[in-house]
Amino acid sequence: MSRPKTQNYKVHGLPKGKEREQRASIRFKTTLMNTLMDVLRNRPGWVEVKDEGEWDFYWCDVSWLRENFDHTYMDEHVRISHFRNHYELTRKNYMVKNLKRFRKQLEREAGKLEAAKCDFFPKTFEMPCEYHLFVEEFRKNPGITWIMKPVARSQGKGIFLFRRLKDIMDWRKGTAGKKLTSLEAQPSRSAINPSGSHDTRSSEDQKDEIPVENYVAQRYIENPYLIGGRKFDLRVYVLVMSYIPLRAWLYRDGFARFSNTRFTLNSIDDQYVHLTNVAVQKTSPDYHPKKGCKWMLQRFRQYLASKHGPEAVETLFSDMDNIFVRSLQSVQKVIISDKHCFELYGYDILIDQDLKPWLLEVNASPSLTASSQEDYVLKTCLLEDTLHVVDMEARLTGREKRVGGFDLMWNDGPVSREEGAPDLSGMGNFVTNTHLGCVNDRKKQLRQLFRSLQGQKKASN
Ligand SMILES: Nc1ncnc2c1ncn2[C@@H]1O[C@H](COP(=O)(O)OP(=O)(O)O)[C@@H](O)[C@H]1O
Ligand SMILES: [Mg+2]
Repeated sequence: MSRPKTQNYKVHGLPKGKEREQRASIRFKTTLMNTLMDVLRNRPGWVEVKDEGEWDFYWCDVSWLRENFDHTYMDEHVRISHFRNHYELTRKNYMVKNLKRFRKQLEREAGKLEAAKCDFFPKTFEMPCEYHLFVEEFRKNPGITWIMKPVARSQGKGIFLFRRLKDIMDWRKGTAGKKLTSLEAQPSRSAINPSGSHDTRSSEDQKDEIPVENYVAQRYIENPYLIGGRKFDLRVYVLVMSYIPLRAWLYRDGFARFSNTRFTLNSIDDQYVHLTNVAVQKTSPDYHPKKGCKWMLQRFRQYLASKHGPEAVETLFSDMDNIFVRSLQSVQKVIISDKHCFELYGYDILIDQDLKPWLLEVNASPSLTASSQEDYVLKTCLLEDTLHVVDMEARLTGREKRVGGFDLMWNDGPVSREEGAPDLSGMGNFVTNTHLGCVNDRKKQLRQLFRSLQGQKKASN
């Protein structure tokens, strides 16, 4: 049983930091065999635990969580890589439901202008339970394109675009068949309960018990920003260490994922044109494994600045900060804020031709597999810095605003930027300490940080 036992540690009663210092090694466990394993195995003082061994740190997958979390006792110092009900944000239907509710709450409490700051997700309906609402909306806007996405799949699987209701009829018959009726007869399965949260059992087990798949029908962004005639979306990493209070870090690096095929609205059946997932694009006949299909965010930011000027770029990136913070706030009261949990989210953001960013989805298990050497470096650095912030070694003071490539974005409120940063407060957004797509001199920063922490420690001894 992977359960750390209290009696193994002779550390109770010692101050928190000291307690961890005295532990000779940190026992880690993971089921992932990619960049994560390399990072964990190379971390000084960390030892791998296999099978049923006890662990201090577990980078688990979400299926382990579902089956075991509620029966696992965890000591104070233990850390685990997901929040118990992470799906409130990372399932496409729940994310939208929570955002819609949060928007309503803002409208009630702070007015329409404030609520409008949540208008960053395309109009979305849960299928089949909101089918009739969807049809109403569909009829209001004849001719536009919609995208159907299974709520809990990833990598572009099961997605299709459509413009006619008839295509949905085919889907209803073909995919959902007669099960659709049984789902419609049990609306409570996906409904929000009075406390505002989703019932853990019914929502999570739904996937296992009912063969029919829930989808979302979402307005398709028909005017994506194109570079070289190609569509792309952005992958951005956000690390949440706590929901109450909300404490979230934003990673400086990330990437744009390009389609290999020129964008057109004429062929809505061609997934290589419309879906930018690497898993989709790498099966395209035009894919060059050496070239890949990614741009690092620094390159993307520079490209935009040269085309539109630095101010337009600042506005775009500040609008993205707004997305990260508000989406987390929308689930703040719903997610079980357990001190053992942290989560590294992968945000999918699409930018349109007006330079407006749209939130497509948030991933609980962003891909940690590297598609090129550059990608390998990004992901190993991202994970090393994640472990620095999680701080199993108890080296940090808790007052840091930057750790490697991570900047503290929200700490129960916006974290102020260092001096000299542009003042954007006049634009209606909060201004926070973020540097997405800026220089990531993480090595230098980490050297300075750990040197200064050592200095402080020596002085206090
Ligand atoms: N509303 C939308 N408008 C335009 N493109 C979209 C939209 N939703 C998804 N896409 C495209 O489809 C891809 C996959 O969608 P996503 O919601 O991220 O699901 P998955 O979990 O399969 O990755 C995105 O990366 C994007 O390229
Ligand atoms: Mg995605």
